Amino acid sequence: MVKVKHRVVIEAPASTANLGPGFDIFGLAFSSPQDRITITVEPRPTIRIHVSGAYAKGIPDSPKGNSAGLAAQSMIKELGLNSGLTMKIEKGVPVAMGLGSSGASAAAAAIGINFLFDLSLSQNELIRFAAMGERASAGFEHADNVSASILGGFVIIRSYKPIDVTSLEAPLNMAICVASPAIRTAARKTGVARSVLPKKISLKNMIANVGNASTIVAGFAAKNVDLIGKAMQDAVVEPARAQLIPGYSKVREKALKFGASGVAISGAGPSIIALVDENKADPFTVAEAMREGFDWVGVRSSSFVTKAGRGARVIEAE
Ligand code: HSE
Repeated sequence: MVKVKHRVVIEAPASTANLGPGFDIFGLAFSSPQDRITITVEPRPTIRIHVSGAYAKGIPDSPKGNSAGLAAQSMIKELGLNSGLTMKIEKGVPVAMGLGSSGASAAAAAIGINFLFDLSLSQNELIRFAAMGERASAGFEHADNVSASILGGFVIIRSYKPIDVTSLEAPLNMAICVASPAIRTAARKTGVARSVLPKKISLKNMIANVGNASTIVAGFAAKNVDLIGKAMQDAVVEPARAQLIPGYSKVREKALKFGASGVAISGAGPSIIALVDENKADPFTVAEAMREGFDWVGVRSSSFVTKAGRGARVIEAE
């Protein structure tokens, strides 16, 4: 394997997963916040990780426990890269909030290593390696967040084995409002949010979800925010997870009242997202209304407005 670069800096965006009915198959990249990772090739065959930034607290620095480290380790092993790495991770994406924080770091690792070693991996291969990194934090290899962080825009996972992902651009007039409650860490773990899910679902709920998920895809294809929003209804996962998020119903109600096209739990939660057609409603008013929704049940929260964004990219190399 020919090493062509020594050091690379990558930025990778936060993302939301599921959008309601697309559990583990839909993802949407944000334009901000982002993680930034500097990867340097080292002669010693070890991976060293340094974590800094606004959301560094509690992020493991062992290669196996860190999503970027585990993605890197998987690539080095499977591709026989025969090198070590130093990874400096600046966490700009809030952790354990359902905003694809581990996915952003894992995506940055896959993109960075592909670049450093001139691997020319396909998009699906990059996603497969980044998804391996998700095992470090979520305990399983879900690919919705990493696909969004790698490809940007809206992504659809058609198949996990083999990984096969398609992406579509998001409507330019679509704003994404995010409200994140300050609740206990235990209730913010992806594993906990998955443990409450039903093992079996009824044919009726399957029909409802396939109909809504298909309509969301049609909405992105047609660049129609209202069409996307009205289909953000999940008969399977959200009803089970709503109980973990105090204020869920109120936040949803408030967002819709102030003009959001649709509302969903962001990934495994506890953040809630609302999609807003900027030609029809003010996203900042919606975001504030969502924060007030959490206030209404006595839960502190923060909110912000972002847009759909592009995928991870190399911003510096030497
Ligand atoms: N699709 C995953 C879930 C996303 O909802 O559990 C986890 O970030």
